[in-house]
Amino acid sequence: MSSKLFLLFENIALFSVLFFQLKPTIADSNKKTIKCIDEEREALLTFKQSLVDEHGVLSSWGRQDDKIDCCKWRGVRCSNTTGHIKVLNLRTSDKENAQRKVLKGTISPALLELHDIRHLDLSNNHFSASPVPKFLGSLSKLRYLNLSCGTPSEFPRKLRDLSGLEYLNLENSSLFSVGSLEWLSRLYSLRHLDLSYINLTKSSDWFQVVAKLHSLKTLVLRSCALPPINPSFIWHFNLSTSIENLDLSDNNLPSSSVYPWLFNLSRNILYLDLGSNSLRGSIPEAFQHMVSLKSLDLSDSELEGGIPKFFGNMCSLQKLDLPQNKLSGQFSQVIQHLSGGCVVNSLERLYLSYNDFTGPVPHLGGFSSLEALMLGVNRLNGTIDKSLSQLSKLESLSLRMNSFTGVISETFFSNMSNLQMLDLKENSLTLKLSHDWVPPFQLKWLSLASCKMGPHFPKWLQTQNQLVLLDISNVGISDSIPDWFWDLSSELSYLNLSNNHIKGKLPELSLRFDGTRSGGTSIDINSNHFEGPIPPLPSNSLFLNLSKNKFSGSVSFLCSISENTWNFLDLSSNLLSGGLPDCWLHFDSLFVLNLANNRFSGQIPDSMGFLNNIRTLNLHNNRLTGELPSSLRNCSQLRVLDLGKNTFFGEIPTWIGESLQNLIVLSLKSNNFHGNIPYQLCHLGFIQVLDLSFNIISGKIPKCFNNFSAMTYERCSNPTIGFGKYILVPPGTGYYYKYLVNLLLTWKGSENEYKSTLGLVRCLDLSSNKLDGAIPEEIMDLVGLIALNLSRNNLTGPITPKIGELTSLDFLDLSRNLFSGSIPSSLSQLSGLGVLDLSYNNLSGKIPLGTQLQSFNASVYEILVKFDLFLHILVQ
Ligand SMILES: *[C@@H]1O[C@H](CO)[C@@H](O)[C@H](O)[C@H]1NC(C)=O
Ligand SMILES: *[C@@H]1O[C@H](CO)[C@@H](O)[C@H](O)[C@H]1NC(C)=O
Ligand SMILES: *[C@@H]1O[C@H](CO)[C@@H](O)[C@H](O)[C@H]1NC(C)=O
Ligand SMILES: *[C@@H]1O[C@H](CO)[C@@H](O)[C@H](O)[C@H]1NC(C)=O
Ligand SMILES: *[C@@H]1O[C@H](CO)[C@@H](O)[C@H](O)[C@H]1NC(C)=O
Ligand SMILES: *[C@@H]1O[C@H](CO)[C@@H](O)[C@H](O)[C@H]1NC(C)=O
Ligand SMILES: *[C@@H]1O[C@H](CO)[C@@H](O)[C@H](O)[C@H]1NC(C)=O
Ligand SMILES: *[C@@H]1O[C@H](CO)[C@@H](O)[C@H](O)[C@H]1NC(C)=O
Ligand SMILES: *[C@@H]1O[C@H](CO)[C@@H](O)[C@H](O)[C@H]1NC(C)=O
Ligand SMILES: *[C@@H]1O[C@H](CO)[C@@H](O)[C@H](O)[C@H]1NC(C)=O
Repeated sequence: MSSKLFLLFENIALFSVLFFQLKPTIADSNKKTIKCIDEEREALLTFKQSLVDEHGVLSSWGRQDDKIDCCKWRGVRCSNTTGHIKVLNLRTSDKENAQRKVLKGTISPALLELHDIRHLDLSNNHFSASPVPKFLGSLSKLRYLNLSCGTPSEFPRKLRDLSGLEYLNLENSSLFSVGSLEWLSRLYSLRHLDLSYINLTKSSDWFQVVAKLHSLKTLVLRSCALPPINPSFIWHFNLSTSIENLDLSDNNLPSSSVYPWLFNLSRNILYLDLGSNSLRGSIPEAFQHMVSLKSLDLSDSELEGGIPKFFGNMCSLQKLDLPQNKLSGQFSQVIQHLSGGCVVNSLERLYLSYNDFTGPVPHLGGFSSLEALMLGVNRLNGTIDKSLSQLSKLESLSLRMNSFTGVISETFFSNMSNLQMLDLKENSLTLKLSHDWVPPFQLKWLSLASCKMGPHFPKWLQTQNQLVLLDISNVGISDSIPDWFWDLSSELSYLNLSNNHIKGKLPELSLRFDGTRSGGTSIDINSNHFEGPIPPLPSNSLFLNLSKNKFSGSVSFLCSISENTWNFLDLSSNLLSGGLPDCWLHFDSLFVLNLANNRFSGQIPDSMGFLNNIRTLNLHNNRLTGELPSSLRNCSQLRVLDLGKNTFFGEIPTWIGESLQNLIVLSLKSNNFHGNIPYQLCHLGFIQVLDLSFNIISGKIPKCFNNFSAMTYERCSNPTIGFGKYILVPPGTGYYYKYLVNLLLTWKGSENEYKSTLGLVRCLDLSSNKLDGAIPEEIMDLVGLIALNLSRNNLTGPITPKIGELTSLDFLDLSRNLFSGSIPSSLSQLSGLGVLDLSYNNLSGKIPLGTQLQSFNASVYEILVKFDLFLHILVQ
């Protein structure tokens, strides 16, 4: 939004430079070529010495004969007339920054020698946190100062002396919160001020100060944690009405604090960004006085009600961004309001996603300038109006996640030759596009997930060679994947073909998705019928999900991938076999590794210990064996470790409890672990699911299980256990992907997969081992437990009456042990119990009266009370 203004101000700064260059001087009349001034050259070289320039950015700077003219150095410009340095621009471009070609080190006071400097730009570098250069305040002729991003500092109060400054950009240049901004109020000439990402919580005078800057045209205070403006305060200041471009986004400001001020500067304002604040209530009528407004962003607040009528008469308005609010009403009324006046001709962008608009899309043909229409995630329904197809300037169209129905055919798109982004994801739409259709557009982003378009693979995609994002998951394709597909677009960064019935083999993907893409690629082809070996996968990927296919062979290709950026790798539920490769050293960015449900054999290689960022390691249901390598203790970030259904053996390692203290889920079930349960396991304070069943573990249950703190809470906020990362889809868009952990738990007689509720499960399963002794009383502290299974051991003694304290229990199985004595009457307190099994013990007495156990209301809970008449259990 503000890029044009940035340019404008750069031009002003340059203009002032040129202005000085044009003044005639004696040197000029002598027509002598003026080289740079010796003192200034030396000053710059001293300045260079304190920098760290790993990439030779400043290689043109030197004393050698061919470099002697410092006016020709990179980033330096001198006055043609006096030879003094006017401009020093060492800004790193975003591209260089991404390649880490930046300057580091410290900023030397040698710069003070540049008495005449007007323009100083050190932005986008990684200077170390030396105090910012208080001395910059002495460069009294500065008009332009850009320290944006990467010059962390104490805040440079000293800059107060730069009274000629017109442009000041300190965006993200301070790691600390800043106090009074009084020093700024002396910079009367400021036209552009950017303090974004600096914590101004303690700068309670920010508003007074800003109000005094009467030349200010651009004010950018994004994410500054601004303290609210006291409304009664506002009238005491002579407010700056010169502001044209105002960005106060992401400050959590309440309406009461922003509106009174704004409506005073209304007439001149062109660009207004109030996104991500706490604006409540309906959109105020007062916005209609902002008659010059070109762009309004009120996204991500709590605005309610509809779109007021006055917007129809805002003849300059080009961009209206209102996504992520609680706006509601019939969408046809929105359009009625907007098409009532001149805005119908000017509006280029209408963003209304993530609101609560309802009903069908009415006739839209009048909006002849519309380039972007974003209506995703509302409650719109009906068929898609034909008039949409008249919007021939449309570049972006999102109708995702609504309830649209009907059929879309080729004619719908016939005038949309400018379309670059099409998102129809998750509607009940059918796409009828013929095999030989040649669309008029070249798309970059295409998502048709869960629309109906099978069973053939859409051949028309072959014409789309610039795709960056392609999501045709769950669209009903059951066809072979064509050969051309993998060479479709060299830009492809996100590919989702999951949940179809696509057949075929994978070519060498590492060649297709080469290393030139920034941000990393995501490939999700899970739940299809792909087969054959897995070829080398692209090393620049973030996300790779090949699960639930029929891939076979080994995964030795992993060892051919060295440096990589992988975060998620899911190869589960295939037919993969062979040993686990021993080359995990390069995979230390892995977050999730899922190799479950394959036929891998052999041991866990030592190098898995290099996975030091790993959160989930799932090797469930393979043919792995051996003892667990102690190198795994380095995986201290692990939250979920599932090694169940293999043939691992040895004692349960003590380092699991000592080093993997973040574990939430630990499953060692169905292996051959023997020996005692090590008391170190009690260090797992976050554990929610501990499954050691079906091993040959002996000895007593440790008394310290009451250290499992997470099992002692009755409630938990998050129903899922997942690990998220922001997946970037260039340029600059992306979304937060959360990988949800799933786990098989045997409970109520059958094995079930837990995913959407796994976070709510608290389960202790020690069944089918050789444990003996009594149940420690301490277990009765685990009042959050939902399932307790101690069956099929040799446990003895009475069942403590304290069992009645485990009031969250849904499942309690103590069967097939040597328990004796009477059945405690406290069991009647377990009102949520669905399954109770006490069979095959030496218990006597009767199952006690209790709300749940007595009611036998099979329609609400599945009640299963097993009893064994031989052991004298009486059921009331
Ligand atoms: C100031 O520096 C930032 C970061 O390099 C850049 O984005 C911005 O455009 C610069 N300002 C001007 C006016 O060039
Ligand atoms: C100053 O030098 C620049 C190139 O370095 C040139 O474009 C400009 O015309 C010169 N100005 C004068 C007044 O000579
Ligand atoms: C602020 O700058 C640091 C580097 O100095 C960078 O890592 C961070 O992403 C920047 N934050 C924003 C919001 O630009
Ligand atoms: C801003 O600084 C204050 C302390 O001065 C701190 O409590 C607060 O969390 C910081 N806010 C942000 C967004 O960093
Ligand atoms: C108020 O602002 C105007 C410009 O908008 C300026 O001319 C005038 O001097 C200011 N008055 C005071 C008391 O600051
Ligand atoms: C600000 O608005 C109030 C109320 O509308 C008005 O009385 C005052 O004159 C306005 N101030 C300026 C500077 O426009
Ligand atoms: C659209 O949804 C509303 C309820 O929100 C319903 O009354 C109406 O019948 C639906 N229209 C269509 C065409 O499905
Ligand atoms: C495409 O544009 C032409 C000319 O504006 C118009 O006549 C035609 O109806 C449009 N087609 C569709 C499908 O809207
Ligand atoms: C791929 O699509 C499926 C179904 O639409 C979705 O559940 C999954 O999250 C998508 N994968 C990624 C990586 O976004
Ligand atoms: C229980 O102990 C008896 C002997 O005391 C032994 O024969 C039996 O195998 C044990 N059962 C289990 C499940 O360990």
